[in-house]
Amino acid sequence: MLTAGILTISDRGSRGEREDKSGKAIKKLLAPLDARLVKYDIVPDEKEIISQKLIQWADEEGIELIVTTGGTGLSPRDVTPEATLAVVERMVPGFAEVMRAESMKKTPMAMLSRGVVGIRGGSLIINLPGSPRAVQECLEVILPALPHAMEVLKGEAVECGRELEED
Ligand code: MTE
Repeated sequence: MLTAGILTISDRGSRGEREDKSGKAIKKLLAPLDARLVKYDIVPDEKEIISQKLIQWADEEGIELIVTTGGTGLSPRDVTPEATLAVVERMVPGFAEVMRAESMKKTPMAMLSRGVVGIRGGSLIINLPGSPRAVQECLEVILPALPHAMEVLKGEAVECGRELEED
């Protein structure tokens, strides 16, 4: 069993002016992971607020998987990657690379997401773009690798690549 947190980053969402369909989509998509959703919140596109939330969820709550949605684009208010980079200790570029690469097969706009993925202590922090469609398209790409990623992060993995060798 894995603990998970979903952080939606949206100025309008945080003011209650927009329904958070993307946060709900993430919750559904994480269902096959045997993850327990322990935190869910919506914050505005403010770097300091986002960073503080990530620190609190990782360090104080010990949440193992933190998935953010929104604020990864090019608008002046989009600061989710910077807020994440300020708090992670190690990057996991493969996740972000593959999400963008696979999404490019669906829309050229995929290259506009600056989302990053990194580790803080025992927490994996994943930035996803803001739309429910993007959330779905990105998460389904990395879901197959997530259980093993979390095992390795927790120091529980017995063998890497065993499934591949058995095929
Ligand atoms: N990725 C996928 N898979 N599908 C999408 O529809 N939308 C893009 C991109 N990534 C999209 C996507 C668009 S239009 C933008 S502007 C960026 O994500 C950033 O979105 P954000 O600012 O809501 O995080």
